[in-house]
Amino acid sequence: MPSSAPLTDRLLLGPGPSNPYPEAVAALGRPMLGHLDPEFLELLDETMARLRQVFRTSNALTLPISGTGSAGMEACFVNLLEPGDKVIVGVNGVFGERMCDVAQRCGAEVIRVDEAWGRALDPQRLVDAQAQHRDARFVAVVHAETSTGVENDVAPLAALASTDTLLVVDAVTSLGGIPVEVDGWKIDACYSGTQKCLGVAPGLAPLTFGERAVARLRNRSRPPQSWYLDLGLIGAYVGGSTRRYHHTAPISMIYALHAGLGAVLAEGLEAAWQRHQQVGNRLHAALPNLGFRLIAQSGHRLPQLTSTWLPEGADDAALRKALLEQYGIEVGGGLGEFAGKAWRIGLMGHSARDRSVTTLLGALGELL
Ligand SMILES: Cc1ncc(COP(=O)(O)O)c(C=O)c1O
Repeated sequence: MPSSAPLTDRLLLGPGPSNPYPEAVAALGRPMLGHLDPEFLELLDETMARLRQVFRTSNALTLPISGTGSAGMEACFVNLLEPGDKVIVGVNGVFGERMCDVAQRCGAEVIRVDEAWGRALDPQRLVDAQAQHRDARFVAVVHAETSTGVENDVAPLAALASTDTLLVVDAVTSLGGIPVEVDGWKIDACYSGTQKCLGVAPGLAPLTFGERAVARLRNRSRPPQSWYLDLGLIGAYVGGSTRRYHHTAPISMIYALHAGLGAVLAEGLEAAWQRHQQVGNRLHAALPNLGFRLIAQSGHRLPQLTSTWLPEGADDAALRKALLEQYGIEVGGGLGEFAGKAWRIGLMGHSARDRSVTTLLGALGELL
């Protein structure tokens, strides 16, 4: 296709990016401002205040990290870990595995708590692992495991607050779509991504650090190995009284996040959760009628990300190609051990609408 060809509009029902809210798209076209312009700094402050509302926290250190969700993960790990530290990671999918990889690259010893793909982690097993490794720096868990469509319970992990071990939560696929209660669940560090339930283009990783995590930053014996993701340095730009330059802020993406969060808060966070739940329930109820079999453990199924086995005899690649080319709909294939056999269907952010479900079910009805 020639590079000047018009870009195609798609209905994005994969594991992300989702279709962004119109307000978030429009904001990308706002006039450029310098990253130290008082008007931009005011908008940045407002964006951080909106993030606090969405994360349900009063944490001062709440900000958008430059980069996608993985940058949020790395920012948590490189700032909280030092070589030789011990860390406990819940693993029941690709993103738990990625946490282990990142922790190992930080020089940490990883204690894994594994669960089968498609099943939820038992939070008590993570609490018990901490009791066996009281010197663990943190317990990390993926709230919404995008590779399997499973929700891992985070609330019971608030028990870690009475220990010296911190709680780190990946909310990349959960924030804005299902309840995330940073203060209520005593989460010490949490990160997300813009391109899923927040309904903004990919490019930023909202992150929040509570008091215990900030204390850990202050008490490090050496600076984090990543200069770019050093939260001490970034904090002096986003929150410090001097607003000291660290790296050039991705201005247009911050406009977009500001506007996307505005859309979520104007709808109401609880109303947005409810909308995700309703469309997810509808899809879960309808898919078995077309021969699909839901994968995630009942009671732990994410409404915003449905993992499903394909109908008997269906050709994964051919069916996804037909959906994309004939109907303009993107769904995601399976990752890792689910590749070729399963789909991941996202109903996130602005894509989490009844009309998305109607369109997808209609297209599948015709194709199958
Ligand atoms: C749960 C989870 N964590 C982390 C990531 C990584 O985010 P990104 O691909 O935006 O870097 C993803 C991406 O899908 C995810 O679903």
